[in-house]
Amino acid sequence: MGPVKLECGACGRVEPFEPGATVCGACGKPLLARYETDALDGGELRRAWAERRGTGMWRFRELLPLRADEAPVTLGEGDTPLIRTRELGPELDLDLRVKDETRNPTGSFKDRGLSAAVTRAALDGQPGFVVPSAGNAAAALAAFAARAGLPARVYLPADTPEGVRRRCRHYGAEVEEVDGLITDCGREAAAYARETGAFSVSTLHEPYRLEGKKTMMLEIVEALGWRAPDAIVYPTGGGTGLIGSWKVLGELVAAGVLEEAPTRMYAVQSDGCAPMVRAWQEGLEEAPEWEAASTVAYGLRVPRALGDFLILRAIRETGGGAIAVSDEAMRTAADELGSREGIDAAIEGGATLAAARALREAGELEAGETVVLFNTGSQLAY
Ligand SMILES: Cc1ncc(COP(=O)(O)O)c(C=O)c1O
Repeated sequence: MGPVKLECGACGRVEPFEPGATVCGACGKPLLARYETDALDGGELRRAWAERRGTGMWRFRELLPLRADEAPVTLGEGDTPLIRTRELGPELDLDLRVKDETRNPTGSFKDRGLSAAVTRAALDGQPGFVVPSAGNAAAALAAFAARAGLPARVYLPADTPEGVRRRCRHYGAEVEEVDGLITDCGREAAAYARETGAFSVSTLHEPYRLEGKKTMMLEIVEALGWRAPDAIVYPTGGGTGLIGSWKVLGELVAAGVLEEAPTRMYAVQSDGCAPMVRAWQEGLEEAPEWEAASTVAYGLRVPRALGDFLILRAIRETGGGAIAVSDEAMRTAADELGSREGIDAAIEGGATLAAARALREAGELEAGETVVLFNTGSQLAY
């Protein structure tokens, strides 16, 4: 069990599955964990995973970075519900579901990625952690580092809501405020890592947050009776959950868990910070930095992403797309998820509903299709 190797998502260079993996040693792009999917039996996997249901995301350990004799750093993350909408689906003439990630230990989907990254790094003997974050990843790192008994430092933009800082300190993390955006936080976090030897779990700067995040899609196809949805709508910053969804569908088909996975992937961003949408519209393979990024959706205020080329490849190869919505539309839609469906949604979750509505109006989503919105975090975080 565990990956057999790591492969660069850009140049294809292969590296061994060994302690301390970060990015590709040749080109600096993200490394992707590769498993021996041919040796797995799809039917057996489905049975084993069903028997372990209710124990969280590590029940999918055959496709996670964990060797047979190792134990994860876990707080029970994962196994979140896929909620069928009561009013919004019929209104849009869709089988519209919400993957409700607010139920995770610190209230967001970031817990999955940080559980996986902290697990691997702690097992590999790293002394402590650092991360640049819009807020949710910082809280998640703080919690899982505490669980591992290791120190963590987080770098947040200075305008991050006070509640986020309080939550990080509650879990014992050191909080640093940076006058700037997440990209500026990234530079400071990287310098701190270089100076102190702390391990950086910045998005896609190590291979395993992606592995944790991909379990969202695993749970979705399982909840649909081992069927892939027609489309997903993902609020995209660094894009880890979208890339992870695309990656794991490939793995499930290769392992014989699914026969096919024709899911179209849609990335939604704010019109105040939409580098992926612009790159997609212009037919580019990478996304140039978005100048003067501004949006109240802190998780989507990511002007440049290391995995840009993977996000663009995922939406193109699956026949999906990228769409920008206004902050006002996101906010209204988040409140609709709350008031019409009883679902706690942060503004990023609202973005997915606003986008689904626009995609439906444009005829991108067809009547009757099964469409999953990623409700990535709780509005209580703000
Ligand atoms: C609530 C929320 N949604 C979406 C995102 C974007 O996630 P990703 O970086 O995987 O694209 C974030 C990231 O901070 C977030 O906190």
